[in-house]
Amino acid sequence: MSDAVTNQLDRFVHPLADVATKIIGKDTRVWQFVVILDGAKIGSECNVCAHVLIEGDVILGDRVTVKSGVQLPNGVRVENDVFIGPNVTFTNDKFPRSKQYPDKIPQTILRSGASIGGGAIILPGIIIGEAAMVGAGAVVTRSVPDRAIVVGNPARIVGYVGMNDERSIGLPKISKARKVQGKTLMFRDANENDAAFILKLRTDSQKSRYLSSTDADLEKQKAWLNHYAEQNDQAYFIIETLAGEPIGTVRLYDAQADSFCWGSWIMKEGAPQTAAIESALMVYAYAIDHLKFMAAHFDVRKGNESVWRFHERFGAQKVNSTELDYLYTIDFNTIKEAHKKYRKFLPETILVLE
Ligand SMILES: CC(C)(COP(=O)(O)OP(=O)(O)OC[C@H]1O[C@@H](n2cnc3c(N)ncnc32)[C@H](O)[C@@H]1OP(=O)(O)O)[C@@H](O)C(=O)NCCC(=O)NCCS
Repeated sequence: MSDAVTNQLDRFVHPLADVATKIIGKDTRVWQFVVILDGAKIGSECNVCAHVLIEGDVILGDRVTVKSGVQLPNGVRVENDVFIGPNVTFTNDKFPRSKQYPDKIPQTILRSGASIGGGAIILPGIIIGEAAMVGAGAVVTRSVPDRAIVVGNPARIVGYVGMNDERSIGLPKISKARKVQGKTLMFRDANENDAAFILKLRTDSQKSRYLSSTDADLEKQKAWLNHYAEQNDQAYFIIETLAGEPIGTVRLYDAQADSFCWGSWIMKEGAPQTAAIESALMVYAYAIDHLKFMAAHFDVRKGNESVWRFHERFGAQKVNSTELDYLYTIDFNTIKEAHKKYRKFLPETILVLE
């Protein structure tokens, strides 16, 4: 127990706590049998309840509540206003063996305003998004998007928390948008007037090598687009420059639980060099940040090497293959990492016109 901390008037450390860190913010309270190792940083106005262990490489923001019986191992980062329920278990070694230590400890990040229900278990390297709610007893194996409510083992999204904490239970759905604006590109909802452009792209001898075959009939293409206009489970976008020149297509479809599929991703010859990366980032920003999906799945023709290499550089995991295709998935965490890595290609937030 450190007297230097205990005796400061503007914070309270119970005499039965063992606190080695000197970094504890104003008006924080630390109760009986709490152990905090040297190096840990604890913000102000926190409440650390009895029987909590906080290791040295842990950061807690301001106004954080840590209920009894919680251990926060190295690598945990907790932002402001987070609630950690009783007996929540954090893990920091995915494949533990006694006396063998991971080379690098993954960070577990709890974004501001998140709450973790009692007895939940958080696997290593997970990000719990802003204001997300993890149900009591959940086993969280994948990162949780902002404002998502997850329950169960493995934890799945069952709804979202609104801005005023009102809940809406239900899985994410793919919906159309009139426009989605990125940095130099715009997605525009496809309509029957795009039939000729789409047909030209899809029947181009080079481009069509890796596509499912398309009938070269303009009327059929128009009919398909009219049928599409009545559907509400997919979004087919024309990719345009901000000047309104169409340069490609992309489609979001086949929602499965919290994962969406994307494809029909074609760019015309002569499109700007950065259009591929920017449009991929826009697809993910729209699906993850706006529609609240948590992951994506898609397939790529084995022969379409430049495209599967692109997805692999982006962080997608090859999970299976068929005679023709490689099947990929990509999770929330990896998508967020990619957004960070390629942030110069997108504005702070994409603009969505519904
Ligand atoms: C996740 C949670 C916030 C959902 O609350 P809610 O929106 O009021 O949800 P409801 O009670 O209406 O339940 C909705 C459905 O989810 C299920 N459900 C709720 N919480 C669940 C949980 N933790 N695990 C699994 N399923 C859960 C319910 O059984 C119900 O299913 P049903 O429709 O098939 O009957 C809440 O149940 C919870 O776990 N809160 C954390 C409590 C806690 O640990 N507090 C900290 C200590 S004080």
